[in-house]
Amino acid sequence: MWENLDVTLKKAGQDQLKKKPAQDELGFGKHFTDHMFLMKWDKQNGWHDAEICPYHQFQVDPAAMVFHYGQAIFEGMKAYKGEDGQIFLFRPKDNFERMNVSATRLCMPRLPVDKVFKALKALVYLEREWVPSGDGATLYIRPTMIAMEPTLGVKPSSLYYFYIIMSPVGAYYPEGFNPTKIYITDKYVRAVEGGVGNVKTAGNYAASLLASQEAKDAGYTQVLWLDACERKYIEEVGTSNIFFRIKDTVITPPLHGSILGGITRDSVIKLVNHWDISIEERKISIDEVVSASQDGSLQEVFGTGTAAVISPVGELFYKGEKYIINNGQTGALSHRLFEELQGIQYGRKEDPFKWTLRVG
Ligand code: COI
Repeated sequence: MWENLDVTLKKAGQDQLKKKPAQDELGFGKHFTDHMFLMKWDKQNGWHDAEICPYHQFQVDPAAMVFHYGQAIFEGMKAYKGEDGQIFLFRPKDNFERMNVSATRLCMPRLPVDKVFKALKALVYLEREWVPSGDGATLYIRPTMIAMEPTLGVKPSSLYYFYIIMSPVGAYYPEGFNPTKIYITDKYVRAVEGGVGNVKTAGNYAASLLASQEAKDAGYTQVLWLDACERKYIEEVGTSNIFFRIKDTVITPPLHGSILGGITRDSVIKLVNHWDISIEERKISIDEVVSASQDGSLQEVFGTGTAAVISPVGELFYKGEKYIINNGQTGALSHRLFEELQGIQYGRKEDPFKWTLRVG
C-alpha cells in the first residue's frame, strides 16, 4: 500500500493510540483517529514534507494569517464500512477538485489531486479499524487548508498547511433521519453572487452562527437562507443544499454563484434523473413554496449534504407562520433517496455512476 507514495509514514506508538468510542458515544466530530495527513506549502518548494503522522497539535504563531484574514478552506467526505468489512469512499476526487475551486477563490495554492487522493487512501487504510460499523455511522474526513505566515499585512499568505483529520461519527442532526424543523430567515443573508458563498471557506460558517443560534433558540434545527438582494429566492440551508417536491417535480435552486455546489446535491440530481423523475434546477421563491404548501401541492422538502446525507424537513417557519410538510413525516422520495444513496455508499447497492472507491 505504501510503495510509490511520496509521503513519509510516522506511525503512532502504542502509548499514543486512543480508545475508540462506542457506537452510542459517537456524536459528530468529537473523537479523532490516531493519525492524520499533513503537508506544507511555500513559494520556494511548493507542496512538501508530506507525511502521515500521529494526530497532533500545531504550534501556530499568533500572527498567523488564518487568524486575522480568514484564509481557511475545508472539505467534508466520509468513509463507509460495508457489510463484509470493506471500506468505501464516495466521490473523493470531487471533494479535492472542489477544494481547488475554493483555493483559487481564496488565493491559496491548489492541491495535487492525485497525490492527496493517494495519501487519503493510505490514511484511511491505516485507520480502517476506526471506521465504525452500524446504521448511519461513518468515518468523517475533514481535509483543511490554512494560511500560516505570521504577518499582519493584508495579502495572500506565503505559507500554508494542508491536513486531513478524521472522526468517527453518527448522524449529524440529533433528529437522525427524522424530519427537521427549518427556520427561514429574512433578517440575515449568507452570501452574494461574486462573493464566496459558492466555496467552502470557514468564514461562511462563522457568518451563519448568529442566525443558526436564533433559529435554535426558537426551537428550529437550522436556518434556510434567502437571496441577499431581494430576500425572495431560496438559497440553501446552513449545512446542506435544499430540494422541494411540488406536485411531481423536484426543484432545487441553481448554482449561480452564491450557493455551494454540494456533491450530495449533484448525486441526488443524477439519481432523480436516472429514475426519470422530473427535476428542475431553477430559481424558486419563498412565495412559490408558501403557496404550494397552502394549496397542498408541496409534497416534500429535504436537505442534502455529506454530513446531513438526506435530511427530510417536516416544518418550515417563515414570517411568523408554520408550514407543516407531509404531516411532519419523511416523504417517499426522501426515503428512497436516502436508501439508495446509503446503499451505494456502504457498497450494498449497485453503483451505476461508479461513485464509490474501495480502500485496501
Ligand atoms: C459537510 O456536509 O461535510 C459539511 O461540511 C457541513 C458541515 C458539517 C459544516
